[in-house]
Amino acid sequence: MSEILLSQLAHVELISPKPAETVEWMKEVFGLEETTREGQSVYLRGWAEWLHSSLIITEGREPGVGRIGWRTYGPGDPELVAQRLADTEEAVGWVDDWEGHGATYQYRAPHGRHLHEVFWDVERYQAPPEKQDPVIKNRPQRFSGKGIGARYLDHVTMPTQNMRGDIDFYKRLGARHTAQTEVEPGFAVFSTLTCNGIRSSHDLALVPDFSGMTGRAHHIAFRVDQRQDVERAAEVFLANDTPIEFGPGVHGIDEITYLYVREPGGFRMEINSGGWLNTMPDWETTTYQAAGGNPGQSIWRNVEAPEGFHEAWPLPAGEAAAKNDEALADENVRDFFGDNTTGTR
Ligand SMILES: [Fe+2]
Repeated sequence: MSEILLSQLAHVELISPKPAETVEWMKEVFGLEETTREGQSVYLRGWAEWLHSSLIITEGREPGVGRIGWRTYGPGDPELVAQRLADTEEAVGWVDDWEGHGATYQYRAPHGRHLHEVFWDVERYQAPPEKQDPVIKNRPQRFSGKGIGARYLDHVTMPTQNMRGDIDFYKRLGARHTAQTEVEPGFAVFSTLTCNGIRSSHDLALVPDFSGMTGRAHHIAFRVDQRQDVERAAEVFLANDTPIEFGPGVHGIDEITYLYVREPGGFRMEINSGGWLNTMPDWETTTYQAAGGNPGQSIWRNVEAPEGFHEAWPLPAGEAAAKNDEALADENVRDFFGDNTTGTR
């Protein structure tokens, strides 16, 4: 018997210390569409996304990620997740009436302690007549042509103190562990997982958290249709005074064309395209070695991560920063995360 509990990464909440600037950038440069505003949050979605929202911008003191939302594969699945996690330290509980979706069950990953939520009932985006696509019925609205035109939410990447432990937890909810990069045998510094049993190479990625902190995040990724759209996005970012951190390039681990920038609140956003289709439900995790040119990070094996690429938010301070810097001083780790120490940017 097989089981798919989750159907898609539905939304991520991005905390921004500069919410007005972040929202403006997400709409005008990243090309997202605003659905609604409620309390301290603004709800956005890619132009081709059917659900109410995929990126929720919420005001906060420091950049970071709040709720990570997953739509289940069918009705009753949120209850199944709740049953499976009942009486565990991961259980948070039921919440009602979140904007854009129905009854919602929340839980935390055991080690990274990231806050996840699952739901089945969703509010679908309904375009006003002037935005409706007159021809292509699988589009919820016309192509917007705004900014880089980010189309769909793709994945979220998060540090965790215990990657193996969190991978085992996500697998209990149906995730496949598709690939990893090690800096030495048994020391993984990057892992990709997907809840999707039929297509994706990853909708969740993990990196190690050396700071001792929990609940931090490294980046949120959106997707465009073509690899050339990523190069076009680089031009749009340059024209809008958004410095490019890393890319365009191709990660060998999933064969996606990547590009990383920082949004005005300071958080890292990725835009990507391409990638191979992992259709194998019984796929066995592939392992790349970082030493000697990591094909997982750069398929051409000739590009290293830039300074500061290890940064994840909230940034560590004091003892946590010292702990983080000590781990990053390891030559092999530096090869993967870039040569820098915390707090210098
Ligand atoms: Fe990514």
